[in-house]
Amino acid sequence: MTPGPVLEVQTILADGVITPAMAIDDLRTEIMGHGRIVILKGVFADARATAVRTAVADWGRQTPLAEVDDFAANYHRRRCMISRLQQAPHVFHDYNFNDLTRVPPAVREPLLALFEPLRGLYRDLTGTETAFAVPETGPYVHPQIIHYPAGGGFFARHWHNLAPQQLGFIVSLSKRGRDYRNGGTMFEIGDKRIGTEEVQDIGDICLWRYDHPHWVTQSDLGDKFDWDSEAGRWVATYAYFDPRG
Ligand SMILES: [Fe+2]
Repeated sequence: MTPGPVLEVQTILADGVITPAMAIDDLRTEIMGHGRIVILKGVFADARATAVRTAVADWGRQTPLAEVDDFAANYHRRRCMISRLQQAPHVFHDYNFNDLTRVPPAVREPLLALFEPLRGLYRDLTGTETAFAVPETGPYVHPQIIHYPAGGGFFARHWHNLAPQQLGFIVSLSKRGRDYRNGGTMFEIGDKRIGTEEVQDIGDICLWRYDHPHWVTQSDLGDKFDWDSEAGRWVATYAYFDPRG
């Protein structure tokens, strides 16, 4: 166990099941009770994480950009705005897969290789069973890939309601120093600011209590910004909410 607010836990993925080297009940207590940031180390192999990034970027090139969120289909948006309620400026490109049955196999397979194990982990940690389909009513999961482009991608401070999500996943799909220069998620916990940029490697999962204020630091403005380039930092998230609620 690592002392300090960030707890690193070695983890294995075998037959689609994520197994941390710490009992699930203890892990939940660390995150939800003690408010610690947990990094599950080495969950997804570099090749698997890279395959997701590449397939999603390819899909994005073949799919027209969306201009609104419908929270039901598969779509991607380039965002460069200030969120209305929380007034959080942000620049990123998000890819949303609310209906994984309707994406081509070339992107569905790498996405399921990532999100199916996350579905199991989320169930183990929260007791909530999710499915990759939109129900008639109630909350559902929104598998999402986010690209923070080199040269200016970021997301300013914001927060979320604790319910119904309970805890968040941020899976790193890029390698610092190779795929991107800098940038990472930071959390405010009590009077402390906690960064994860230097501890989260490609394939690691960051777990955090969902009501911690957080932000994503800006990629180096000295680099060229290009929406069409894959350069920058890519992550996957597993948001669970009801956009109709
Ligand atoms: Fe957030």
